[in-house]
Amino acid sequence: MSPTATAARFRELLARLLGWTFADNDAQQLSTLLQSRADENGMSKDAYLARLGARRWDSELTVLVERLSITETYCFRHGEQFAALREDALPERAVARASQRTLRMMSVACSSGEEAYSLAITGRQVRPDPDWIISVTGVDANPLVLRKAEAAWYSAWSLRETPDQVRRRWFRAENGGFRVVDEIRKLVRFQRTNVAEPDDDLWRSGQYDVIFCRNLLMYLTPAVTSALVARMTDALVPGGYLFLGHTDSLGSDPVGLELRHTHQSFYYRRAGGPTPAQRISSLPEADEPRMVPAAAPPVDNNTYERALDLLRQERFADALALVDGPRPGPLRRRDRLLHGVLLAQAGRLDEAIALARRLSDENGLNPDAHQLLGLCLEDGSAVAEAIGQYRLAAYLDPGFALPRMRLGQLARRQGDDRAAAGELERALELLAREDDERITLFGGGFGRIALTVQCRSELDACGVYP
Ligand SMILES: C[S@@+](CC[C@H](N)C(=O)[O-])C[C@H]1O[C@@H](n2cnc3c(N)ncnc32)[C@H](O)[C@@H]1O
Repeated sequence: MSPTATAARFRELLARLLGWTFADNDAQQLSTLLQSRADENGMSKDAYLARLGARRWDSELTVLVERLSITETYCFRHGEQFAALREDALPERAVARASQRTLRMMSVACSSGEEAYSLAITGRQVRPDPDWIISVTGVDANPLVLRKAEAAWYSAWSLRETPDQVRRRWFRAENGGFRVVDEIRKLVRFQRTNVAEPDDDLWRSGQYDVIFCRNLLMYLTPAVTSALVARMTDALVPGGYLFLGHTDSLGSDPVGLELRHTHQSFYYRRAGGPTPAQRISSLPEADEPRMVPAAAPPVDNNTYERALDLLRQERFADALALVDGPRPGPLRRRDRLLHGVLLAQAGRLDEAIALARRLSDENGLNPDAHQLLGLCLEDGSAVAEAIGQYRLAAYLDPGFALPRMRLGQLARRQGDDRAAAGELERALELLAREDDERITLFGGGFGRIALTVQCRSELDACGVYP
């Protein structure tokens, strides 16, 4: 074969076997590699190419993947996509999965695992309750990087975009770098997969809530890209999310996917699944009777109102004594929510968190329980998780002003004035109609007017209008 035909044949085989396409300026690298592979196998280039094209040659394919693939990655790469995941996609999926209590994610082309662990950490931050199962499958064709992924040890450079509090919570210092804690490692499994080949098990229909496939499509041929996108779309549960790299685009109208834009990120949602409105209309009543044991006389209305009154006067200890007082049976959900608020206000944060978690455990669709949990977590410095809880509360009840207000205030604190303005403007609209009792419970001692003034001045300070 002529040198041009040899080079073309090598590219053709790489496209067929691995789905790869190369730019013209890769010619020199490919030619050097072809020569060295032929030499190492004791063959002429033509014989090597003939063997490569004739039948499976896994060991050689492994070498080619290891030598040619670009594996650059790091933890929480493109943080805005993780913010969209944490604050938009996962809270919505958590609502949709309330009865199964699982969130399944996938990192396609996971390289050395940083993306897969970042997904697991985000899932862990957002999970509504401890008994939820979070799982992440990381797949890549390159066994070298997968070994690194399994080891879960990274240099400080890999964590350059990882917020400090995340690094402190989910990694431990080891050998001059950081190892992912076991609690996260056990949520993630890795699998060697060549996406240019079909794999019916991996791509089973309707299993994943979220798929990240970033910085892979740009290396793939159009045919392999469309086959992979079709498989990923099908593998998502209806309503599941697909995140691609910044340079990958499927256009504005890809088959079966809707384009979504939040947190300065574009991503896709598989069409179908319950709409937010449908989910909200299926919410149980705030005090759904089946949740209350039949023989459990509640705190009487009078006591409840008196405790609320004491809360308004910031007499937390007196209010707690009232709610904690002798009674013939367990507290009703409404009373337990008040109890949780009082515990938080009295500084008994751990008890308040435990109670809020129990409440949302009993009914993951209760916006007030998520709001309470958000407030407690925020106080306990678990801000990212608190944001997830506020998102859930706002999502479950679109008329709920107070989670929007907290989201706006937190976005401002994090320097994201645009996101803050969006939330605060919505909060301002909703505050006028906010339920009095919610203002007492979650307003932190401020009344409607004071909250409105606060919201207005924070919105003005953003200097941006959405
Ligand atoms: C640049 S990394 C992307 C890492 C990560 N997704 C990110 O965005 O930070 C590209 C990865 O794609 C993998 N890859 C390339 N071709 C592949 C194929 N045919 N099947 C599976 N993985 C492949 C490479 O091994 C490499 O680890």
